[in-house]
Amino acid sequence: MKTGGIVSVILLVIVLVVQVSGEFVTCPKRGSKCFLKQLKCPSQCPLTSPTDPNAKVCFLDCNSPVCSPECKNRKPNCSGRGAACLDPRFIGADGIVFYFHGRSNEHFSLVSDLNLHINARFIGLRPDGRTRDFTWIQALGILFDNHKFSLEASKAEKWDVEVDHLNFSYNGNELAIPEGYPSVWKSANNEIKVERISSKNSVIITLPEVAEISVSVVPITKQDDRIHKYNIPSDNCFAHLEVQFRFLGLSSKVEGVLGRTYQPDFQNPAKPGVAMPVVGGENKYRTTSLLDTKCESCVFSPSHKEDSLVMDYGTMDCTGGSSGGNGIVCRK
Ligand SMILES: *[C@@H]1O[C@H](CO)[C@@H](O)[C@H](O)[C@H]1NC(C)=O
Ligand SMILES: *[C@@H]1O[C@H](CO)[C@@H](O)[C@H](O)[C@H]1NC(C)=O
Repeated sequence: MKTGGIVSVILLVIVLVVQVSGEFVTCPKRGSKCFLKQLKCPSQCPLTSPTDPNAKVCFLDCNSPVCSPECKNRKPNCSGRGAACLDPRFIGADGIVFYFHGRSNEHFSLVSDLNLHINARFIGLRPDGRTRDFTWIQALGILFDNHKFSLEASKAEKWDVEVDHLNFSYNGNELAIPEGYPSVWKSANNEIKVERISSKNSVIITLPEVAEISVSVVPITKQDDRIHKYNIPSDNCFAHLEVQFRFLGLSSKVEGVLGRTYQPDFQNPAKPGVAMPVVGGENKYRTTSLLDTKCESCVFSPSHKEDSLVMDYGTMDCTGGSSGGNGIVCRK
């Protein structure tokens, strides 16, 4: 009993010291610039797994040539790079905002790379007299290696913050991830981790060294409806997803509505200075279902992933526009 008591006091002291002075992080991967360096988390985000769901998290990108821990939000930042929010408004790797409307009840590939493929299902409506659908992202289908993961916003008549609207599946089986915080699910060999970041309606999906995807389910509010004249019916609040992607290991062949903006020589067709630049590509990126990987421009081919040149765009500062590290490409 006595030793137990002393051990817990020591552990408590260690926890307190870490909370005050910040945790250290490192990269276990050989070839990373940060390999086994002990780096201290910034004081604004001293911990890698804070107990406060709203606290920023300390994070180290092992592929980045800038070997420096950073703070990040866990909830999607709809103004940040890699965001897909609203009726869907994307922000590419180059920071340029663009809209891709697709069509309601169809599926489009947001990212198609050698070993990562992400489709979105669009829901929406077309009020009388309009020439196109208003659309939102209702579900994501994520494929990597030979695994399939899906996440869907369940349909709701009226939005109730007390109700969770997330449905998950992994390799064809429905997945129950208990409500609450913290609540974490991992696949058998840690290929994928799903972590709730609030007790309901928000998660981070981690594919180690490949991607991190923050997702929240939100409704169309009365105010959005009024401002944008969506004409939302009274029996459907069009619960949909707000998403922010962070990619850690894309190849230079990456395709997809959002993915192509990560190609090293991508020229964004969205014109800077245009208020709502809309980009097309419906026919290049349409897939037949949420977990289908075929489309005109899709490149998913998990058996060839070793050919890929891993790039990094992370959140690093690429001032100087030069490249560094092992085949790491930096964008100006
Ligand atoms: C979201 O991202 C934008 C653009 O990078 C940034 O200016 C803003 O501070 C971020 N918001 C939060 C809450 O971090
Ligand atoms: C979500 O899962 C519940 C059961 O867990 C099921 O009843 C419901 O139909 C599912 N909704 C969607 C949109 O898949």
